[in-house]
Amino acid sequence: MEQRPVILSGIQPSGRLTIGHYTGALRNWVSLQQSHECYFMIADLHAITVRQDPAELRQRTLETAALFLACGIDPQQSVLFVQSHVPEHTQLSWVLACLTGMGECSRMTQFKEKSAQHRHNVNVGLFAYPILMAADILLYQADLVPVGADQKQHLELTRNLAERFNHYYGTTFRVPEPYIPPLGAKIMSLQEPRKKMSKSDPNENAVLFLTDSPEAIRRKIRRAVTDSGREVRYDEQNRPGLSNLMVLYHIATGKSIADIEQEFAGAGYAELKAALTEALIEFLRPIREEFERLQRDSGYLLSLLAHGAERARARAQQTLRLVYDRMGFLPQAPYVEGVRIAMEDSSHADL
Ligand code: TYM
Repeated sequence: MEQRPVILSGIQPSGRLTIGHYTGALRNWVSLQQSHECYFMIADLHAITVRQDPAELRQRTLETAALFLACGIDPQQSVLFVQSHVPEHTQLSWVLACLTGMGECSRMTQFKEKSAQHRHNVNVGLFAYPILMAADILLYQADLVPVGADQKQHLELTRNLAERFNHYYGTTFRVPEPYIPPLGAKIMSLQEPRKKMSKSDPNENAVLFLTDSPEAIRRKIRRAVTDSGREVRYDEQNRPGLSNLMVLYHIATGKSIADIEQEFAGAGYAELKAALTEALIEFLRPIREEFERLQRDSGYLLSLLAHGAERARARAQQTLRLVYDRMGFLPQAPYVEGVRIAMEDSSHADL
């Protein structure tokens, strides 16, 4: 069978997923899954870099799996799994940590932001977070990693680590390329449009969740902050609020930005908001309904994840074995009964 290029990507189960997760990641996963061999992961090990309630983490992990499916991930085509089910991730992470400079990790924008946000808990895991992410990607020999713009720097580190390893120990890893969509790579907060939309925003009105009810969508779009001006014209720099709403309209309807400008020529922001509200309600309805249906079937989700972990692990183990061998780790010889006895005998003789 013809080998398809490989994709790996992941999402943390640390909260409800937003429309940003959809546009930056899930939407592209769905469109790439037919032409690629895909591994889609729920990054629970990454989630514990900030404190998690155990019962909630378990529930969010299942919810995230349900949302992957509700958004169109096809488990017949793609491997869907939980990061902590495949121990090779943490094993490779240690190897890569020994190749990473402290300065490389401390330069990461996300580390700087998160350590400012969680001042009381700046742990080593938060610092080493991008190394684990590099391990996630390199373990699968991924060619392409579809992510939002905020992950670009982590992808650069991943590429550097792959090249460094290959340089020291011989070609072992594929050097992956990021796939960052031209539109929707950074969905902005509905309340502060110069800030990324984030699931942990304390202001609920700033964030559009994939499972929001029609009432919540109406309220959030009505209250969304726009810029001064009247004309519906895309300008990310000077009108980030309006441009963000136009991107959401593009996502919900499939219309191009030029078509949207034409549709609202002579009309104002209020008309765009009204049309966007209806488009989002219709766009998110099937996702929410399918999510609710799947969520009731945790047995199905658990068995799907168990099967996914097995498939993922088969690939991960191959890479890790190769890495260990290249680094000079002594292979574990098959256990032979007679050899053990002989060693025990000789140690007794020494006593
Ligand atoms: P996470 O869980 O923060 O986000 C998951 C994906 O969603 C994208 N995203 C957005 N895109 C556009 N606009 C937004 N407002 C927005 N918010 C989130 C993110 O860019 C990301 O693609 N470290 C990763 C998870 C991870 C991973 C990996 C990703 C772990 N291992 C390996 C790729 C490959 C993270 O925290 O993403």
